[in-house]
Amino acid sequence: MSESEQEFQDRVEKLCEDIFGFLFPSALRTAIRLDVPDHLAKGPRTAAELAELNGANAAYLERVLRYLATRNVFREDEAGRFHMTPEAELFRSDAQPSLRDFALVAAHEVVLGAAARLYDGVVKGKTVFEDVHGVGLFEYMSGNPEFAQSFDKGMSAFSDTENPVIAASYEFPAGATVVDVGGGRGGLLRSVLEQHEGVKGILLDRDHVVAGHMLDVPELAGRWEAVGGDFLESVPAGGDYYVIKHVLHNWSEEDGLRILDACRRAMAEGGRILVVDAVIPRDNAFHPGKTQDLMMMPIVDGQELTKEGFQALFAKAGFKLTRIIDTPSHSSIVEGITE
Ligand SMILES: C[S@@+](CC[C@H](N)C(=O)[O-])C[C@H]1O[C@@H](n2cnc3c(N)ncnc32)[C@H](O)[C@@H]1O
Repeated sequence: MSESEQEFQDRVEKLCEDIFGFLFPSALRTAIRLDVPDHLAKGPRTAAELAELNGANAAYLERVLRYLATRNVFREDEAGRFHMTPEAELFRSDAQPSLRDFALVAAHEVVLGAAARLYDGVVKGKTVFEDVHGVGLFEYMSGNPEFAQSFDKGMSAFSDTENPVIAASYEFPAGATVVDVGGGRGGLLRSVLEQHEGVKGILLDRDHVVAGHMLDVPELAGRWEAVGGDFLESVPAGGDYYVIKHVLHNWSEEDGLRILDACRRAMAEGGRILVVDAVIPRDNAFHPGKTQDLMMMPIVDGQELTKEGFQALFAKAGFKLTRIIDTPSHSSIVEGITE
């Protein structure tokens, strides 16, 4: 049966929505920067009432909110008042966990400017971040503390949504020392220590990131250390488990091997490597890891890997892949032992 005119129109309109998909992150970031979720959390308001509170242009703001309501972020009633929705709740500054900081950095001009040049990266087989901003992502952050802070908070916010279920997906035995390599502000390590009695932890990240860590809570006293350093050079020695979560996908294979090598040299005898990342399935189905993989392309030289990709990377680094443990999040735990 041939396609009806209506079906054709529907298909075109759906594709056009995807073509305009770049507008959603910008509209969301605008609403968050104008504190709309926090204001609406106190009760429904019209765009004019919101504009009184945040200084925006009421007519422009109304158009942004009307569009976001088509994506279930906010709901407009017949009197023109906007309400919170379960999706909007996730963007409140006091939500636990909150996607606010993640949405803010994902649509930051620094990221979108590079993403607009995806074509150049695909032709060159290399990230365009350096072409656009003059230096690589992490060096850029060293010279731009405002963006660096936004990036670190965004990563931490995203991680908070999955850290507890990842920590619960692996049996860390009492007495073990877990080193979180590039562990950000320590969200995963905190979940590991909270959920596994008698385990000790060491957080390693860059100095300015470790400075803002979240491990200093009375319940975990005496069970952790926070260390500033460079994982391309060395990582703290003597650990039983070296967790590397959402780090390898930021680096070229050469640098990824340097990080794995630093872990292999540092680990106690019988130690294990636990890479936590998406494992990309070979199918046509939606998988958040496929989107995340594309997100890496304009900003860093890393990528998400398939199971075979992890096996090959581990072999080059002197590890044998022993298990892939799925978790309730889209990230899996890829476990390896030294060969
Ligand atoms: C994408 S974030 C992942 C953070 C954390 N593991 C998580 O899952 O939320 C990558 C981390 O690597 C850290 N990093 C980048 N270069 C580093 C280096 N040379 N040495 C140590 N940490 C580094 C960053 O500061 C950042 O916290």
